[in-house]
Amino acid sequence: MQHLAGKVAFVTGAASGIGLGIAEALAQAGVKVMMADIEADALAAQVARLAATNADVAGIRADVSLKAELRRAADATIERFGKVHILVNNAGVGGGGSYGEWNDAAWDWVIGVNLMSVVWGIEIFGPLMEAHGEGGHIVSTASMAGLVAAVAPGYNVTKYGVVALSEGLRPTLAARGIGVSVLCPGFIRTRIMESARALPERLADKVALPDPTAVPSEFAVMAAQAIANGIDPLYVGELVVEAIEGDWPYIFTDNEFEGGVDLRFAAIKAGFDKIRGRVPRR
Ligand SMILES: NC(=O)c1ccc[n+]([C@@H]2O[C@H](COP(=O)([O-])OP(=O)(O)OC[C@H]3O[C@@H](n4cnc5c(N)ncnc54)[C@H](O)[C@@H]3O)[C@@H](O)[C@H]2O)c1
Repeated sequence: MQHLAGKVAFVTGAASGIGLGIAEALAQAGVKVMMADIEADALAAQVARLAATNADVAGIRADVSLKAELRRAADATIERFGKVHILVNNAGVGGGGSYGEWNDAAWDWVIGVNLMSVVWGIEIFGPLMEAHGEGGHIVSTASMAGLVAAVAPGYNVTKYGVVALSEGLRPTLAARGIGVSVLCPGFIRTRIMESARALPERLADKVALPDPTAVPSEFAVMAAQAIANGIDPLYVGELVVEAIEGDWPYIFTDNEFEGGVDLRFAAIKAGFDKIRGRVPRR
């Protein structure tokens, strides 16, 4: 989508981190932005900060793991800005626990926020973008964990899902004038390690959160350090703006995990090599 100035975007998880960086970069490009987040106070503060720069932004509190709240947020976007051209399905949470730790509520939480909100976002906003005939673009935030299953199981599963959904819908929606990109960030300097703060009230006491007094795993220590020293979220936002303008299928933030993707594909190729030349019995 060319000529972003004057267009309207809806961004989820916009009160912090990558979503905030994307909202800010879009606003700097002259896009009007409806910022959605479950955290009302942080959202109000960031909307006020961006509005003070003369950006045309507004905020709506919404738990995107609830379809009705996402629909209400879409209605509010149309009411405030008249139409919508860009959907950024970005809200996401880490956690959910590993083998032996997870329970059904933890899977519900991670799948609801990281994956179902993306399904519903596309379902709700797609027709709104088609209706005005000016074209649209959808960016959904997956992760490098959407290409290499290197994080917690629930996180990997949902992020692979976001990659699959984006890849699969790209040709379908292109025919309807809507571009589709999947954002696969590496380590970005955000509050993702504090995702428990955004646990919806209805799931409180049902999801087993990590014990803050327990010794963190080696992986958790490494990840926390890498994120603390991670890439600037506003830089990611600027990449997203460039990707929308250029209709990139994949948006990577850096090359740190490119080797991991190569290794995965080599392992898949090795699986094919094992049966190469055999004639399957039918
Ligand atoms: N930080 C990284 O290194 C990294 C890497 C790869 C992918 N990601 C992905 O980037 C996205 C943004 O995360 P971030 O790193 O900026 O973390 P963050 O915690 O700084 O921001 C996430 C935002 O999403 C909001 N949110 C959480 N649950 C919500 C819900 N149910 N409804 C509405 N909003 C909700 C939070 O309140 C928060 O403002 C996520 O999808 C995450 O999986 C992050």
